[in-house]
Amino acid sequence: MANIFPRWSNLLPLKIAFCAGFAVAGVALAFTYYATPKTLTVGYQPAQPIPFSHKIHVDQIGLDCRYCHSFVEVSGHSNVPTGNTCWNCHQHVQRESPKLAPLHKSMNPTYPGYDGKPIEWVRVHKAPDFVNFNHSAHVNRGVSCQSCHGNVNTMEVVFQDQSHSMAWCLDCHRAPENHLRPLEEVYNFGYNAETYLSNNPQLGVKTTQELGLKLKQQFKVTPKTTCATCHH
Ligand code: HEC
Ligand code: HEC
Ligand code: HEC
Ligand code: HEC
Ligand code: HEC
Repeated sequence: MANIFPRWSNLLPLKIAFCAGFAVAGVALAFTYYATPKTLTVGYQPAQPIPFSHKIHVDQIGLDCRYCHSFVEVSGHSNVPTGNTCWNCHQHVQRESPKLAPLHKSMNPTYPGYDGKPIEWVRVHKAPDFVNFNHSAHVNRGVSCQSCHGNVNTMEVVFQDQSHSMAWCLDCHRAPENHLRPLEEVYNFGYNAETYLSNNPQLGVKTTQELGLKLKQQFKVTPKTTCATCHH
């Protein structure tokens, strides 16, 4: 068995599930139960140490996602910003707001409770450890944050908009043309494919379906569906 799944050697539960072929309903059920943490549940919306609003910072102030999630297009991992990013503005703006006490605690040496420790944001989305996900592989191929995280730009508190289940990943890997955008539109949360087409008649494309297929060809996108693509 170790030969069949050499790279999964630390995944005993997975192997057991495979050997049983999910034939035993009990195994499958137990698996689903243990393999569905709250970070994979649609609607999951934990409270955060600072009531940070994407609606204020993106929709009202107009910040780009990459201003804070600065590694998203160059790395597999999309970082959450450090206190420095917030402090750049908030040492001047809303400085006295009680909501920003944890920021002062982290960043402001003159603050009475200062400890210099990072702010402990609560993780909203998290793929299980046996899944290999990569942000830059998606956003640099015309898949928008919006397709996977919903309308974050209007969220007062971030919640999980899509299931992030294996079936969800595979649905798009099998038909990416339904989700692809021109690269310059990946971070545009007001994007509308029909409007884009009527503004760009020179493309010679009539329907949004045709646009998806054209982009798929142009980016040479062929998402893989083999198990090793997403499982180490
Ligand atoms: C001013 C900084 C800032 C900007 C701009 C910003 N974010 Fe965030 N984002 C944060 C912070 C801080 C958190 C962690 C706290 C939270 O979840 O609200 C976060 C959390 C998230 C999360 C949840 C992370 C998790 O734990 O799973 C997603 C998804 C996200 N942002 C997407 C976006 C998108 C998409 C945009 C652009 C539309 C954007 N953000 C713009 C600061 C920012
Ligand atoms: C580019 C500047 C800028 C950055 C960067 C920024 N903010 Fe803000 N933030 C603002 C502005 C401006 C407001 C006030 C909006 C208003 O009053 O309508 C605000 C409002 C807030 C508020 C509401 C305060 C209140 O009392 O209502 C919180 C909380 C907040 N920001 C947290 C953060 C956190 C946490 C970060 C870092 C992840 C951050 N901000 C990064 C400019 C910024
Ligand atoms: C193809 C789907 C997809 C796209 C596109 C996507 N994300 Fe994610 N995002 C995920 C998944 C899945 C996770 C959980 C990843 C993990 O646990 O390794 C995640 C996690 C995150 C996190 C939390 C990371 C952490 O360590 O706390 C942030 C922040 C985030 N995404 C922001 C963004 C932003 C900003 C964009 C657009 C620029 C974006 N994502 C585009 C699927 C996506
Ligand atoms: C909305 C569409 C969409 C969703 C949802 C999606 N993907 Fe993808 N994925 C793509 C596209 C498009 C590519 C780029 C394929 C290419 O470059 O040929 C890709 C590429 C990848 C790659 C890089 C593979 C390589 O060739 O290096 C990995 C890994 C991956 N996806 C994992 C996931 C996982 C895990 C999930 C679910 C948590 C997921 N994807 C959800 C569209 C999607
Ligand atoms: C495009 C990415 C992707 C591909 C390809 C993929 N998986 Fe997954 N798989 C995931 C994600 C994401 C999860 C975790 C989410 C969940 O548990 O629903 C997962 C979970 C699992 C689980 C845990 C049980 C469960 O349903 O929760 C098993 C077993 C599994 N995958 C087997 C496979 C096998 C076998 C293949 C090849 C036929 C495969 N996967 C291909 C993304 C993928």
